[in-house]
Amino acid sequence: MLMLQKAAERLLEWYQLNKRELPWREGRNPYYIWVSEIMLQQTRVEAVKPYFQRFLSELPTVRDLAACPAERLLKLWEGLGYYNRVRNMQKSAQIVVEKYGGEMPADYEALLALPGIGSYTAGAIASIAFGLPVPAVDGNVLRILARLEADSSDIAKQSVKKMREQQLLELVTDSACIPKLRENPGELNQAWMDLGAGICLPGGEPSCDSCPLKDFCKAHEKGEETAYPVKSKKLKKRLEDRTILLIQDGERLVLHKRPGKGLLAGLYEFPNLEGHLTEEEVLNWVEEKALFPIQIRSLDPAKHIFSHVEWHMIGYLIRVASFEGNLKDNYLLAEVKTVEEEYAIPSAFSAYARCLQMHLGPMRPEKENL
Ligand code: ADE
Repeated sequence: MLMLQKAAERLLEWYQLNKRELPWREGRNPYYIWVSEIMLQQTRVEAVKPYFQRFLSELPTVRDLAACPAERLLKLWEGLGYYNRVRNMQKSAQIVVEKYGGEMPADYEALLALPGIGSYTAGAIASIAFGLPVPAVDGNVLRILARLEADSSDIAKQSVKKMREQQLLELVTDSACIPKLRENPGELNQAWMDLGAGICLPGGEPSCDSCPLKDFCKAHEKGEETAYPVKSKKLKKRLEDRTILLIQDGERLVLHKRPGKGLLAGLYEFPNLEGHLTEEEVLNWVEEKALFPIQIRSLDPAKHIFSHVEWHMIGYLIRVASFEGNLKDNYLLAEVKTVEEEYAIPSAFSAYARCLQMHLGPMRPEKENL
């Protein structure tokens, strides 16, 4: 523990001089910190910045989030992926309004009880916004501690995460602990994040020469920093072939609204079918929808990686005769000009949106998911 105390103290000093300037670090508004932490769960810092600004300028308070229409909310999240994150955030915002008068509770357990808030996020909000002495253990912290201690336990295991949470909790609550650590738990948590993002990088490239903790690091001492952390592999992703259809009638485009439950629930999409279909199969399907195809052209294949599934897509651009009736089964005709503005379409379809000179989301993050 003493070694960890000393390392943490050094880390905090390093952080005071080297911390990144980030929009969510400008104040301690718990709602802002919550939004940033949820966005940062699956998306890189640089990609999050424009989403964060846009989200908060439209929904500046917990009450605004609680009351936002679902369609608008999904549109604001378009491109960030993992849409359940924002659905849960809205559920939690509604609870915060009903139960806590719209103020985020300054209590770790109460935060943890909210939908979509796990131990890491509860710890981050409690420590950064409210200065409470709790850890926020994510992959960065697990990696750094595994290297510091040359510990080969599997960091994919929940028991290892629990052990690290306990260790860091003791670090900031121990009465013998250096006051600077006890008084700045939020700074310490963010210091681990910055060290993990800038120096103690994953994979084969930690910048040990500039690391403030190199004198404490057992993995570095042995010259084996890349041997840690040990992490068991996730299950292989399921591969799915899909055929994407861009069906246009003059200025209008066929969209499909996905069901309210399951993968990408409630979002809009270009019509798409299981498997890689031939032109003839596609034309049959289009005719079954009572549309009259005039022209068909195949589009380049594209790939999209979700958390558990990988889509291997082919596509067709189909021109149909002008259509006046109503489409059925959650299919609709939307003005091409308004699609980009008004409909939340997952980034899985980006490659095909580009065929229509359409861009999804304010900035394409590198990673997008379910
Ligand atoms: N990654 C997750 N949370 C973060 C934060 N508050 N600052 C920087 N990077 C982060």
